[in-house]
Amino acid sequence: MAVSRWKAVGSTLLAAFLVGLVVLIAVLLIRTYTLPTAVRKWNRNESLITELAEKERKQLVEALKGAIRIPTVSFSEEEQNTTALREFGEYIQKVFPQVFSSSLIQHEVLGGYSHLFKVQGSDHNLLPYMLLAHIDVVPAPPESWEVPPFSGEERDGYIYGRGTLDDKNCVIGILQSLEFLLKRGHKPRRSFYIGLGHDEEISGHKGAQKIVEKLQSQGVKLAFVLDEGLAVLDGVIQGISQPVALVGTTEKGSVTLDLTVNRLPGHSSMPPSETSIGILAAAVSRLEQNMMPNMFGNGPEQDMFEHLSTKFDFPLNIIMANLWLFSPILSRILELSPSTNAIVRTTTALTIFKAGIKSNVIPPTATATVNFRLHPAQTVQEVLDIVQNTIKDERVELSVLNSFDPLPVSPNDMSLGYHILQRTIHDVFSGPPVAPGVCVGNTDSRHFVNLTNSIYRFSPVVLKKEDVDRIHGLNERISKEAIELLVQFYIQLIQNSDTDNIPPPHLDTHEL
Ligand SMILES: *[C@@H]1O[C@H](CO)[C@@H](O)[C@H](O)[C@H]1NC(C)=O
Ligand SMILES: *[C@@H]1O[C@H](CO)[C@@H](O)[C@H](O)[C@H]1NC(C)=O
Ligand SMILES: *[C@@H]1O[C@H](CO)[C@@H](O)[C@H](O)[C@H]1NC(C)=O
Ligand SMILES: [Zn+2]
Repeated sequence: MAVSRWKAVGSTLLAAFLVGLVVLIAVLLIRTYTLPTAVRKWNRNESLITELAEKERKQLVEALKGAIRIPTVSFSEEEQNTTALREFGEYIQKVFPQVFSSSLIQHEVLGGYSHLFKVQGSDHNLLPYMLLAHIDVVPAPPESWEVPPFSGEERDGYIYGRGTLDDKNCVIGILQSLEFLLKRGHKPRRSFYIGLGHDEEISGHKGAQKIVEKLQSQGVKLAFVLDEGLAVLDGVIQGISQPVALVGTTEKGSVTLDLTVNRLPGHSSMPPSETSIGILAAAVSRLEQNMMPNMFGNGPEQDMFEHLSTKFDFPLNIIMANLWLFSPILSRILELSPSTNAIVRTTTALTIFKAGIKSNVIPPTATATVNFRLHPAQTVQEVLDIVQNTIKDERVELSVLNSFDPLPVSPNDMSLGYHILQRTIHDVFSGPPVAPGVCVGNTDSRHFVNLTNSIYRFSPVVLKKEDVDRIHGLNERISKEAIELLVQFYIQLIQNSDTDNIPPPHLDTHEL
């Protein structure tokens, strides 16, 4: 009797479990395959001009090669090739005569070598926007390059050289598109600014910051800012086989810390039980062993996976569409590789360690430098508190060399700038899905937070996995096709920005 009652309870539980499982699977599948997305239909204006003539393509390629040949290198915080920076200013004046002579455009040099242009639109009621790019590049010792890094040499349809992806492609792309538009008699409705900084690779304090101060002194507010950053990624995100466009809506913050231990010097024949080296080594080791907390879900990174959920291959698509359930698992998976670990947490990098001068002397001082890149949901103060708690040793002195908080997250819904970008990406790159993302590097646009809440970091190029390593690396290059597409992007963007506002969304459901 008792046994059969338990049997009945058991089978009821089993039935309930099975029903639950079926419901769960149904929910997962429904969310995966029918997640609604808001779609906006733009009226395509057939009179838009983006096609480039054969002669224009040649001009463009030559303009880029010439720009690569001027070695505008930022060697260190203190040292830049100012001869090259000045030469670059003369170069763009020569190559883009319409830009420098049009009555619609005002140009000025700021901070010695940076350039600010204002292109006057016909409708004063429209808030202006801003296009940014930088003219300086990181050093490129010629060893191991297939072609000299400042030769602008062409090989197999690619233009090689430092700056072809970061960021002379955008500098030339913006100016060239404006030159072509002016030649065709285009007059924009919406005013816009172009800012070309000369010290982005070493902070932007002398270039972008001067541009910001100038605009702020004139009371300028911007509808949006577009700077370099993320791109159309092809095969870069694991599990997605089609190209996807990521638009950076924020970038990580940064803290650089010096750790110092001072002890009495002594002779190595009678060492104390603990030396400055040992104490400091233990401290930095604790920092490395105890990673900063995983913040997945607190910043915009979860948004990115949700936007792209239907683009992931099976079974990842089920995981991405159901982060309400799988978020803890995904966040652990993302920790496994350095590039995705950088998305989910504040990273800790031990970069300099100095101590000791002689093999038989106990050194008085040991110092180490640690660089943290802050997850968008953490502040400089929070990171400093965690560091102190992790080291837990008063003999280790901390001093902050420099720091800034992560950038505020720009809106990706109901934002004019984001929608114009999304539309332009669709127009030019044959419709890849567009999603917001986190820029793990820093850009000049971080100086513009007081001028707009809409800052987007997107370089209009398609990057494959191997291209990513070429940026700041060896054999940086861009295909002729890609630089043409980039110019078409800016031509289209400038025209798309003449719209008054964004069309209303309507919900679109994916087919089962
Ligand atoms: C299309 O572009 C032309 C020329 O720029 C402009 O006059 C016209 O108003 C635009 N039409 C729409 C629907 O945006
Ligand atoms: C600086 O740039 C000039 C050309 O603009 C070049 O001749 C010179 O070699 C460069 N100097 C260094 C140290 O790279
Ligand atoms: C923005 O404005 C605030 C308040 O005036 C100021 O403290 C901050 O430094 C400004 N930020 C930038 C990047 O200019
Ligand atoms: Zn750059």
